[in-house]
Amino acid sequence: MRFLLLLVTLLSVTTNTYADFTEDQMTMIVSSFNKLRSTVTPKILGDYNQISWSEILYANALSQTQTCQSNSLYSSAGAAGLYGESYSYFDNDPSVNDVQDTLSSPKQYYNYDDTECVGNHDCTSYTNIIWNATTQIGCSKNLCNGKTYVVCNFNPPGSFSGIQPYTARQHSSQSTMSYEESPNKIVNLNQRLVRREDDHIYTASVPSDGSFDWRDNGVVGYPKDSSNCASGWAFTAAGIYESRVAMRTRHRYDFSSQQLLDCINFSNFSITNYTKCSRFSGELNKALMYVQNYGLQSTSTYPYVGASSQGCSYNQSSIAVQGGDVEYSQVGRDSIIEKCRKQGPVGVGIFVTNEFLNYAGGIFQCNNTLIDNANINHNVLLVGYNQQDNYYIIKNNFGRTWGENGYARVTADVNKDCLIGKNPAYSVQI
Ligand SMILES: *[C@@H]1O[C@H](CO)[C@@H](O)[C@H](O)[C@H]1NC(C)=O
Ligand SMILES: *[C@@H]1O[C@H](CO)[C@@H](O)[C@H](O)[C@H]1NC(C)=O
Ligand SMILES: *[C@@H]1O[C@H](CO)[C@@H](O)[C@H](O)[C@H]1NC(C)=O
Ligand SMILES: *[C@@H]1O[C@H](CO)[C@@H](O)[C@H](O)[C@H]1NC(C)=O
Ligand SMILES: *[C@@H]1O[C@H](CO)[C@@H](O)[C@H](O)[C@H]1NC(C)=O
Ligand SMILES: *[C@@H]1O[C@H](CO)[C@@H](O)[C@H](O)[C@H]1NC(C)=O
Repeated sequence: MRFLLLLVTLLSVTTNTYADFTEDQMTMIVSSFNKLRSTVTPKILGDYNQISWSEILYANALSQTQTCQSNSLYSSAGAAGLYGESYSYFDNDPSVNDVQDTLSSPKQYYNYDDTECVGNHDCTSYTNIIWNATTQIGCSKNLCNGKTYVVCNFNPPGSFSGIQPYTARQHSSQSTMSYEESPNKIVNLNQRLVRREDDHIYTASVPSDGSFDWRDNGVVGYPKDSSNCASGWAFTAAGIYESRVAMRTRHRYDFSSQQLLDCINFSNFSITNYTKCSRFSGELNKALMYVQNYGLQSTSTYPYVGASSQGCSYNQSSIAVQGGDVEYSQVGRDSIIEKCRKQGPVGVGIFVTNEFLNYAGGIFQCNNTLIDNANINHNVLLVGYNQQDNYYIIKNNFGRTWGENGYARVTADVNKDCLIGKNPAYSVQI
């Protein structure tokens, strides 16, 4: 029996002449993981440490891949927390990109701009890869039972042994930008800035053509979770104001969607059959007009409870923002994008399908032929556009575990855009 086991082990070891990463691939692993670090969004203050290849980590990963996990799930150094260790199996021989995508739990964006990854919270989804303290990597692969088994080691280890992650409030491209917990004055967006091109604090960093992503400017609040309530219009309206106030004041706020849900009298606008967690469209525009006139409190003074609210408890002395000119664009992709580029994140309509509810990343497409006669049933915040690959970047309100860290890329192809281009973009001009 012992002999047999030994033989099996020997056999599996001899299959390891199967190619490990080449020198070129090792270099690519290092550069692609460094590139990933630079895509943390919103951009961080200062520079990330660069990661480099470590022969010691490579040797550890190699000895683990040789076992095909027959001894244990992790190498002993990995299990002891001496190194960070990630592993994955692939049906085919993976490219460096495949490895990176899989080991980075395949999110395109990492967003520390919230309060989730501080204190005792479990931040294991934020892997070693983007841990600033981590400076060394070594990866190996081996063919195991027809699959490619990849192990990467990281040093010093990140999340698993408690090196503090970045804390949210320090992260944005503008050093003065932070969350404002208790706003002590109302941001009145009707007090006009002198609108010289180079005076407007953020437009300068948004190119006049091509791609842009307002998250890079630190003016997009973190994605919320509307829970079991179709209140995308309220979150989108609050999101537009959050961005405008960040653009004006260089502070991020967190505005109350619940106030919009509770306090807007939709009968005034002849919207019939309105229920609190409505699925009807048309509320976004009304919500913006409401904030313009009545103002909006912060979430800290008017928290989100969704459908279980007891009614409107608006407190005029707690208003954090009001004003701005409510505007909307022409219908169509180019007009929507232009509005967003010029004024900041804007609200758009979208038709949400079941596939979209289960979206977990990538560039999402609808078959518009199937939904052409439908009305939009959701609102989201448009935060950017990629010209090269022609997709919108939207912020949703399905929580941070949905999509790409709460965001989605949706194609801007007019035949597949889930009807985004069939509606205008709603904006507040400051
Ligand atoms: C990363 O760590 C280095 C020191 O190791 C530090 O100088 C740098 O500011 C850190 N970067 C961030 C974004 O914290
Ligand atoms: C709705 O109309 C009533 C009276 O017509 C007015 O008192 C109230 O302020 C209006 N509410 C909103 C949210 O426009
Ligand atoms: C809402 O507005 C309608 C029409 O102006 C009015 O009849 C109704 O009393 C208002 N409801 C509340 C709760 O203010
Ligand atoms: C409102 O609800 C009533 C009763 O359910 C229905 O007959 C009517 O068509 C609805 N109106 C709209 C505009 O949806
Ligand atoms: C309204 O807000 C003010 C200022 O934040 C606060 O002092 C007051 O207690 C609030 N009123 C109610 C009824 O919550
Ligand atoms: C979209 O749906 C239509 C109608 O069912 C179908 O004919 C067409 O092949 C679909 N297009 C794609 C790309 O799936």
